[in-house]
Amino acid sequence: MSAAADSAIPRHIAVIMDGNGRWAQQRRRPRAIGHRAGARAVNVCIDFCLERGVQALTLFAFSSENWGRPADEVGALMKLFMGALEREVDELDRRGVRVRFIGERERFSPAIRERMAAAERQTLGNTRLHLVVAASYGGRQDIAMAARALAQDVQAGRLRAEDIDERAVAARISLADLPAPDLFIRTGGDHRISNFLLWQLAYTELWFTDLLWPELDAATLQQALDDYARRERRFGLTSAQIAAQASEDTPA
Ligand code: FPP
Repeated sequence: MSAAADSAIPRHIAVIMDGNGRWAQQRRRPRAIGHRAGARAVNVCIDFCLERGVQALTLFAFSSENWGRPADEVGALMKLFMGALEREVDELDRRGVRVRFIGERERFSPAIRERMAAAERQTLGNTRLHLVVAASYGGRQDIAMAARALAQDVQAGRLRAEDIDERAVAARISLADLPAPDLFIRTGGDHRISNFLLWQLAYTELWFTDLLWPELDAATLQQALDDYARRERRFGLTSAQIAAQASEDTPA
């Protein structure tokens, strides 16, 4: 599909769900309460994507660096993930959502890993929305793993070093089978990527809001979509080239 043929609805949205801790602190509650409120906002986001016909949603639930948080907060997040996996998967399945996980899965407990695998198996055939949960995920780690896979392929004689190009890397990186995110949303007021999908976000439109993640509502998501629809995505080309592509794409 050419750049100009992009519809106003992003095919793939990637989200950094930031601000749970501050939301709780503002209410003088433990940070874990903020994460619990954050889990409710996840449902708001999934409902919105289903209603608008977004094909893929990737949520940054837990970064490689988040393991370094205080043990009680990590423990509360693990309980929350386990609870969500136990409670939500049947309903997601019923609504046609395919669930999958990216990141270093081996760092989770066997019980959580088993639940992740079961959720993936149960929802494998669903096509309405592809929900990707990035858990123990880091963008640099993702690129390093792709480099390792390339090296292994070269070592085994399946690939020549001189054939390594962007496509070869892209084929070995997480989400290779999905369109790259069209829109990146970050709540919580910070304007950074924080080691999220570093490779995949190369041409993604970035959108930030000061709203804290537990405060997320459909109106805010709609604002992000409206803003996205107004942007001109040039993918390194000029406006004139994009306009010419658009007229080529328009049926006579
Ligand atoms: C960042 O807020 C958020 C997280 C590290 C965890 C995200 C988890 C959830 C939204 C809950 C459940 C998710 C799923 C997929 C079931 P922060 O704690 O860094 O907030 P702060 O910047 O205000 O401290």
